[in-house]
Amino acid sequence: MDIDKYINQIIEGNCVEVMKKFDDEVIDLTVTSPPYDNLRNYNGFDFPFEEIANELYRVTKQGGVVVWVVNDATIEGSETGTSFKQALYFREIGFNLHDTMIFRKTNPIPQIYRKRYNNEFEFMFVFSKGTVKTHNPLMVNCLHAGLELNGTTYKNFSKNDQTREKMAKPVKDKKIKGNIWEYVVGKKQEDQEAKGHPAPFPCELVRDHIKSWTNQGDIVFDPMSGSGTTARVACEMGRQYIGIDISHEYCAIARKRVKLMADAPTLFIVEEPQETYIQETEEAQPPTEHLQ
Ligand SMILES: C[S@@+](CC[C@H](N)C(=O)[O-])C[C@H]1O[C@@H](n2cnc3c(N)ncnc32)[C@H](O)[C@@H]1O
Repeated sequence: MDIDKYINQIIEGNCVEVMKKFDDEVIDLTVTSPPYDNLRNYNGFDFPFEEIANELYRVTKQGGVVVWVVNDATIEGSETGTSFKQALYFREIGFNLHDTMIFRKTNPIPQIYRKRYNNEFEFMFVFSKGTVKTHNPLMVNCLHAGLELNGTTYKNFSKNDQTREKMAKPVKDKKIKGNIWEYVVGKKQEDQEAKGHPAPFPCELVRDHIKSWTNQGDIVFDPMSGSGTTARVACEMGRQYIGIDISHEYCAIARKRVKLMADAPTLFIVEEPQETYIQETEEAQPPTEHLQ
């Protein structure tokens, strides 16, 4: 296949032009983040959003996933809403908007007070081409593990005549993690390797998405790979990677990071086998108005 020559490479170029050379439906997972509303002046980029989205749709496998991490600039007193416009465009061209997730920063940059709260999150739009083919859910401890909570087990709500339908079961030890994920930005040693790039991902964010949406050997892609965080973590986790960036300087940082990882095989992460979940049918879900 033509894609083979791009596997495990950081490629310098405009991602639209490079992606056009890829075969159809070859990528299992994309984890990427575009330049946000010209917030930063990267080294001379051209950002044709719609062409990038169209090419991403073409190269993504059936059941594959695109994680698009994005935020809006505030211009003349208003957030631009570019993130939402982009999410809706991905839907228009055929992707499912599988989940709108939040990347919450535990150390957000303090902002000058302008009658608004400090911004401390970015969107992580998770798009899928058809039904997601791989989901290895991250699990967290249940707060009330082992307790027998009986709040929902009564079938008769009349005041004087309450009967139990069934005995309460003890709360499980683990449950599936929620869709707000928290990370510290730029503080960890592994993230410091990206110095020289103005806006790298935390490695842990990429790790969590790669664990969630891929298996060993899958192809993980970042068309705007900057300092190469997605490629670096994919390499660490035994996935194949492809990174593209328009900047010569950022490609050099990315290649260095990936090489460090490839040369240190003892650092490869061994993943725990995941519990198996029964595939639910994809039915219309009512909106959840008040998340508890
Ligand atoms: C938000 S940064 C990505 C940072 C990256 N996630 C990391 O961990 O370092 C966006 C990147 O897009 C690159 N870029 C902008 N337009 C591009 C294009 N048309 N093709 C390829 N790369 C592009 C910029 O050079 C910049 O490095």
